Amino acid sequence: MIKQENDTLALTDRQRWDQRYRQGTYAARSWPSAYLKQLRDDGLLQPSGRALDVACGRGRNSLYLSAEGYDVDAVDVSAMAIAHAANTAISQQVRVNWQCRDVLEAQHPIRQNTYALIVMFRFVAPELLPSLLHALVPGGILVLEEHLQWSGPEQISGPSSQRFRVRPDELSAQLAAAGVGFDILDEFAGLIAEPTDDGGQGNAAVSRMCIRRRST
Ligand SMILES: C[S@@+](CC[C@H](N)C(=O)[O-])C[C@H]1O[C@@H](n2cnc3c(N)ncnc32)[C@H](O)[C@@H]1O
Repeated sequence: MIKQENDTLALTDRQRWDQRYRQGTYAARSWPSAYLKQLRDDGLLQPSGRALDVACGRGRNSLYLSAEGYDVDAVDVSAMAIAHAANTAISQQVRVNWQCRDVLEAQHPIRQNTYALIVMFRFVAPELLPSLLHALVPGGILVLEEHLQWSGPEQISGPSSQRFRVRPDELSAQLAAAGVGFDILDEFAGLIAEPTDDGGQGNAAVSRMCIRRRST
């Protein structure tokens, strides 16, 4: 199912992403996040209930979570990204509730106490974090992975602008300010090796967190 809402996002942002996806951005990156798979292997994710993939892009993580057993809602502002994702879901015979909309749009807040799992990968939106925590059911899990600001000599992939990267400890500070109790299950900031889009091997600097919303 694909839902498109007529919201008020600055068109330039949506158009920019549509153009990138039209040009084939991330087309080769079909594998799910290594971090999600690691958390699943470590037993921190128990696939049942509803999951939300925020800024899902071409849906690599939504598809993985659905195949693992979650009932997945996946949201992205780019209609091109959602179209690619929906086509892949059909070819893989996987069901995801795709939604094309601006997650920062205040008119469509994320429903509170709804999700067993929320993931947000490589989309920097600190203003969204409190509502993501509130959208978790008590005991629900939030997984975040952002590009990290990096001054080392290594060649790293990802955005060249620091605006789209977080500082070390920035995620935990932003979460702490949200006013919702949580426990940190896993945390990492540093360099990781990951496949490049042309099939080689490269480095990314990332900040990762996996937290559980407290029940009280
Ligand atoms: C770097 S991509 C990451 C995609 C995906 N999370 C992944 O890891 O493969 C960032 C995504 O954020 C989406 N995006 C940007 N602004 C958005 C907004 N306001 N609401 C929803 N999605 C947005 C873009 O369309 C793009 O797909």
